[in-house]
Amino acid sequence: MSQLSASHGKGTITGNRYTFAPRMAKTPKSFIREILKVTGRPEIISFAGGLPSPDLIDVEGIRVAADSVLKTDGRAALQYSTTEGYLPLRQFISERYKKRLGLTISPDEILITNGSQQCLDLIGKVLIGAGDHIAIERPGYLGAIQAFSLYEPVFHPVPLVNEGPDIASLEHTCRSHPVRMFYGVPNSQNPSGITYAEKWRRDVADVIREHGVLFVEDDAYGELNFSGDSLPSMRSFLPGQTIITGSFSKILAPGMRMGWVVAPPGIMEQLVIAKQASDLHSNYLSQRIAYEYLLNRDIDIPIRKIRTVYQHQCAVMIRMLQEEFAETVSYHHPLGGMFIWVTLPAGCSSMEVFEQALRENVAILPGMPFYVDGGGTDTIRLNFSNATDESIITGMGRLARVIRRMTGA
Ligand SMILES: Cc1ncc(COP(=O)(O)O)c(C=O)c1O
Repeated sequence: MSQLSASHGKGTITGNRYTFAPRMAKTPKSFIREILKVTGRPEIISFAGGLPSPDLIDVEGIRVAADSVLKTDGRAALQYSTTEGYLPLRQFISERYKKRLGLTISPDEILITNGSQQCLDLIGKVLIGAGDHIAIERPGYLGAIQAFSLYEPVFHPVPLVNEGPDIASLEHTCRSHPVRMFYGVPNSQNPSGITYAEKWRRDVADVIREHGVLFVEDDAYGELNFSGDSLPSMRSFLPGQTIITGSFSKILAPGMRMGWVVAPPGIMEQLVIAKQASDLHSNYLSQRIAYEYLLNRDIDIPIRKIRTVYQHQCAVMIRMLQEEFAETVSYHHPLGGMFIWVTLPAGCSSMEVFEQALRENVAILPGMPFYVDGGGTDTIRLNFSNATDESIITGMGRLARVIRRMTGA
């Protein structure tokens, strides 16, 4: 009795079926989570997920921070708290924006969320009505497609080129439709790995400004540029017109579910109401532990280590693509993040590659779910952050054999 039916009858149960709100029929399952159920077997080398390296999570440091919070202020840390989030943590985030990007952001413009994924849900809640037009990168982050779909928008995918969104297409979309917002990941985009070039950021901002669109800048990977350099935030070109989402998942620990959203005061007010209605506030104990951890160390040291390790793992995967795949595939060489986006040889189906590779105990992620308008059937996403040199070499060797066999190359 669990089939999904979107027809709204009088009751919730009709015969042996439940009926759900129509929005549920428009919201895709997370393909990644479904695939991970299949690929969790220990013998499988998985490039399908998007997990940070477990070796880089500072378990001992977090344990010490947790001990200290519970010993010194346990009762308060385990109490209800404010919706906006722990002020010292918001002050830390505000100072980091100043230091890293030269941005002046008041702690009042920051709301602590349950991972940055929750920001997308809250943004959808307060800004997207059924039938509203929103623009999104093509390919786009699957989690955003899923979060926004619940609010039943009309998606307008804007193709990504090497330097960022195709400007003419963005312009055309904004001119042809009453677009409310553009959602993008300017740093090490998931899934493509593309980082918007600086000039591109200005050009995108010009279009966004002209059409009164809101830019939702998802910066989940901003700290993971391999070079350590930071490109300007879209907010520096579009103050008052940008919402930034940030995350501790890739630099601290995803299981703590700590993220934040930065929004201009008028929007923040609405986000706080939506957050109150959703969950009152984010896990206060996690916030206290995270702050205690950050207070007692130079966070740039572990972040540098994460960048160095991921840059190395990425280089090993690129080397395998160069040596083993010859000219059969094309790919984007990322400047940071956790993924390499690969385009397969003409006529090669990513779903078939997925199935054949799984038989060789290698898991990859087919690209289709990242396309709101279909397409991407010849693309795959490879994750390198949760892999060793050895597993990359072995797994990529097997994947190359599968593709050669399929293409007769
Ligand atoms: C682009 C992007 N945004 C947001 C998220 C959500 O991350 P979290 O909720 O852990 O902060 C992810 C997760 O992988 C992501 O890739």
